[in-house]
Parts: sequence; structure tokens; C-alpha cells
Amino acid sequence: MKLRVSGEVTVPGDKSITHRALMLAAAAEGTSRLAGLLPGADCRSTAGVLRSLGCEVPELPPDGAEIHVRGRGLDAWRAPDGVLDCGNSGTTARLMMGLLAGRQLCATLDGDASLRGRPMRRVTDPLSAMGARFREAGAEGRLPLEVCGGSLRAIDYGSPRASAQIKSAVLLAGVSGRVPVTVREPLLSRDHTERLLLGAGMAVETVEEGEGWRVSLPAPGAALPALDLRVPGDPSSAAFFLALALLADEGELLLRGVGTNPTRTGLFRVLARMGGFVEIHGEHLSGGEPVADLLVRPAALHATEVTGEEIPALIDEIPVLAALAARAEGETRITGASELRVKESDRITALVENLRAVGGEAEELPDGLVVRGSGRPLKGEVRTHGDHRIAMAFGILAALPGNDVRVDDPGCVEVSFPGFWEVLRRVAEPAPAPSAGGGRRARPDGIIVAIDGPAGSGKSSTAKAAAAALGYRHLDSGAFYRALTYAALRAGIPPERWADLTPAELEGLGVVPEPVAGGYRMRVGGEDASEEIRSPEVNAHVSRMAAVPAVREWLLDALRQAGGCGGLVADGRDIGTVVFPDAELKVFLVCDLRERARRRLMEQGIEAPDGRQVDAEVERLASRDEQDSTRAVAPLLRAHDADLLDTTGLDFRAQVDAVVRLARRRAGVDGSQETA
Ligand code: S3P
Repeated sequence: MKLRVSGEVTVPGDKSITHRALMLAAAAEGTSRLAGLLPGADCRSTAGVLRSLGCEVPELPPDGAEIHVRGRGLDAWRAPDGVLDCGNSGTTARLMMGLLAGRQLCATLDGDASLRGRPMRRVTDPLSAMGARFREAGAEGRLPLEVCGGSLRAIDYGSPRASAQIKSAVLLAGVSGRVPVTVREPLLSRDHTERLLLGAGMAVETVEEGEGWRVSLPAPGAALPALDLRVPGDPSSAAFFLALALLADEGELLLRGVGTNPTRTGLFRVLARMGGFVEIHGEHLSGGEPVADLLVRPAALHATEVTGEEIPALIDEIPVLAALAARAEGETRITGASELRVKESDRITALVENLRAVGGEAEELPDGLVVRGSGRPLKGEVRTHGDHRIAMAFGILAALPGNDVRVDDPGCVEVSFPGFWEVLRRVAEPAPAPSAGGGRRARPDGIIVAIDGPAGSGKSSTAKAAAAALGYRHLDSGAFYRALTYAALRAGIPPERWADLTPAELEGLGVVPEPVAGGYRMRVGGEDASEEIRSPEVNAHVSRMAAVPAVREWLLDALRQAGGCGGLVADGRDIGTVVFPDAELKVFLVCDLRERARRRLMEQGIEAPDGRQVDAEVERLASRDEQDSTRAVAPLLRAHDADLLDTTGLDFRAQVDAVVRLARRRAGVDGSQETA
């Protein structure tokens, strides 16, 4: 059996940024607006700790909806009644110690058995040097631990390890104690705290200097301002689905709105060396952090070597990297990663023992591991030790056909990725088995031809004419949007309400595409609506309908159902990437901007446009291109296996012929009979 991946995943919010956003919002003066927060157990621990200190932090919504945190400044924090329970979260414990160090109060921090086993002196040492007092109530250097804060001294701290938790604890102590601080680290660890403080108007400076990096924060003056932030998707959570798509046999996966901060994306660089390419689309800044959509397809991976300098930017991705290495050709060696021994579990031992338990080959090194890849089926039970990333890494191996891997504690994924198993089930499906006769395709009517391109590249007319020449049907995705628009107007639903249309309401509009020779007839409520969907009223409202989130899901289903049997030419913006990622032929049309402008004006009946008209249209098209490639819903994407067809110098006939030639060749090579 084969594994096919398809569809889109919006991974939950970034865990590191969520912790910091909650802490800074609770320390600020004013009402912060925070969206996209991770509702996982670790971040709920941070929210709970802040509430115990008297801060008003609402429940974290399960869908990342916006919340408002009313901050009254650090001076309003009060001593808690009981212990501050950090649960499983090292970031909560260590960063809160930094903030508490500058407060005139005492508080005891504690955590679960795993957190009680993790070293805390790495943070209490520099904070003690600044003047905070700590009392270890349990084992040496471990939680539970009482912190008594007060007035602090400035510090210039040379950290022996690249750790964002150490760096952030000291920076936050600087904020809380209003003293200047400098932290030096041998390699640059994740810099989310610095970015947030910069966004709050503080002059944080990060410089590569001598043997490492120096981060300096001048004495904060005024109160922290409220935040207005949308947290990006967590690249560490996305990593599991990158791995799944790379290890699949067919299809592709689109991961939406993932953080691409370079201090977090070391895995992408390692994957590229292993032969697995992550396409980054529509990268832009949001709240000071880079964010993008990631597109991944199956690849034959080979082993690599990962050394110490690369570790900080992929420290949390090593479990999934080890899972990938178990499937890559050759021996992957990871060194300089002794920090893994003090994560939620001793990840070096946990990975090696579990890889062996399921029949893989791996060896421990003092500061890393060696994994030998193979295609052998993996079978056995995995002991997570309550570590979410061990559970998810082996969850990916468990999803591969032929493996029989069970995870003893699947529930621990709640820490960073609630809903992980449901998403995994949704995007991973067995590929349809080839029908009897071996070479015969699963699409009885012929291949699928996907034509994508920017507005005005001629894709719709080209697709229609190519379909006619091939004896295929033309699937015009625009007609589906138009039919929905017409149906909603006819049903008297006011356009202002469309954004909230539910899948059931869309279904109830009664839009049914009926296959006819050459294409589809759109029926609405049983009646042929081919004429009505071209009316000026539909024209005026169709883009509003296309932006409705539930419409996207409806359309994907409708298009895939319509196209299931093949024999189809479809055009749009993401037909080859999202709608039919397994289309046998993908063509991406490009065309010089002035030529596109000229063609569009001619379509509007302006036969000989003057220079001014062309200039104005060029401007309109350029801004439409920008919008189309960065929009949240269905952005314009080029599949990397698409054939690029530059239509600038081609007349219409030549353009259609080029597509038809490619399609005939592809259908012939694939063993299906040519139709025209
Ligand atoms: C984190 C930093 C990293 C990482 C952890 C989260 C953070 O730890 O492993 O999951 O949010 O600052 P270190 O700073 O100890 O390397």
C-alpha cells in the first residue's frame, strides 16, 4: 500500500512566541490584542501562572481566536497564594523566574515529574548574580524552587550555552528590574524575546561578535506598551507534517501561515541536504516575525551529518529528524546536541531506545545519535516518557504504510499540538491502488491537466480551447464561485453575512455541477443557471464569495468530485498545488505584464489601448498579483513540478497548441490512450 498526502494544514500557534506574548501582555500597561495563541497545555500553564499573580488572562481559545489581555503593569503583580504550577513547561518556569526576579515578592515555582528533573541553575545563577534570591526546596538545582525578587543590578552575562530560555530569562529580568543587561551566547538561539521587545520600542541590539553573539538591552524606561499580535504557526509543529509529506509516496501538503524565523528553520536547511525540498511561498512579516506558506512533496531522502553549529536552530526538530533519518538512505549522524538530554525527556536515549524497539538501527553518542536508515517495516511499541515531540515523531512513522508502530501515551501531544492525531488522519490516506491490468490508470476518462497563472495570462480561454481540442471537459473553477454567488443572492442572503456561511448552509444552496460535453453546466436549485451566473450582479459580488473561508472547503470538495474520473482541463490559481496536486500535467502560464494588460483591455473591448490606459492596467495587475500571491485563501502558487509556459510572444492558437502537445505527450507516456 502507498501513502498519499493531500490538503492543507494550519498548524497551531508558535509555543515560544505564545509564552512570551502572554507574559509581556500581562506585564504591559494597557489592553493587548493577541490572536493565534497556542492553546496547548504548556501555554495554559503560563496563563495559569500569570493569573495566580493577579493578572487578568482569559482562557486560551481552542481555535486561536483573538483574546484581550488587560495589563496593569508589573507593579500590579501580587504574591500568589499557592505554588506557581508550570506543569511540563520549562519555558514557563525559566522565563517567569526572570520576570519575578525584579518584583518585590516571593513565589514558589513547581512542575510535573519531568520538569522537576530539569536543571534550573543555568537560569538561577545569572539571576542570583543580578540580586534575586532563590531557595531550592527539592533536589539540588531543581524545582520546586522559591524566588524572592527585588531591586536588581545590571549584568553582562556570558552564557556557556546557546539557550533562548537563559537569554530570555536575563532579558526579562532586565525589563522587570528596569536595569540594562547584556547576554553573550556562543551561537544565536531563537530571538523571539528580542523581536517582541523591539516591537515594544526597546532598543535591543543583537551583534555577532568575537566567538559568538551579544544581545544588549539598555535600561528600560517607560512602561511596556500593550501588544497587538498575531502569533504565527509553530515551525516545530509544522516539522512533523513536513516529514510526513517527504516520506509519503504521492501528493503534496500545504502548511499555512508557518513562522520562518531563521533561528528556527535549521531543519529546512538540513532537509535540503537530504534531498527534501521545502518550498516557501508568500513570505511576509507579521508582528516582527517572518511567516509563510510551506509546500512539500515526497522525496527520496539520503543521510546527512548535523553538527553543533546547526543545533540551536533545530533543537526541537531532532526527534522528527531522527524519524526521517530512519527512512533515509545511509547513516545520519547528529552531534553537539547534548542539550537533548535535559529536554522534556532525555531525547537521545528516548530516540535511540524507541528506534530500536520498533526495529530500526540507532546508537547513542554522548552528545547525539547515529541513525541508519532502511525501508524495512517498523513494528513495536514506543515509550514516550510523556514527551510530546517523541510521541509525534513516532506518530509520523506510525502513519507510513507497512509500519505497525504504537505510541504508549498519544495524549501527551496536548503540550504543544492539540488535535495532532486528527490532523494526521485527515491528511494521510492510503493511495488508491492501481486497478487490475497494472498499467491502466485510476482515471477512466483521461489525465488531469492543471493550468494556473496570474490574472490576464489567458488561462481560462486557453484551458477551454485545449479541453475542446483534447476532447476533455473544461473545469472552470470560477463558474463554481459564480454559481454559489448567484445562489446566495437568489436565496436573499445579504452579502455582509456571507463570511459566516457554514458548510451546511453552502450545501443547502443547492449548487450542482452537471457534466456535459466540453464542461459542466451549473445547476442551482435544480435549474440551469449557466446564463444567470454571468450577470453583472454576480460579477460585482463574486470576489466576496471567493474570500469566504467555508467556501474554500466546499469548492475543493466540489472540484475534486467533478474531476475524479479525469479527462479534464482545470484552470485557476492553485489547481496544480492544492486542488489536484496529483494532476498528470501542470502548466503555469506567465506573461509579460504589459502584454497581459493589453490583453485584458482587449477583452474589455478596447481594441487599441493608448499608453496611459496600458500603464493604469499594468498598475492594477501588479497590485492584483501581489494580493493573489499573499492572500490567506487560495494564494497563487506555482507547483515546482509545473511546466512553465511563457505566452508573451505566442498568439492564442500557439498557446493552446503548446498545452495540447504537452497533454498528449503526458497521456501517451503515462500509457493512457490519446483522445483526440
Ligand atoms: C525555548 C527554547 C529552547 C527550546 C524550547 C523552547 C524557548 O530551549 O528547546 O522548546 O521558548 O525559549 P533552550 O533555550 O533551553 O535551548
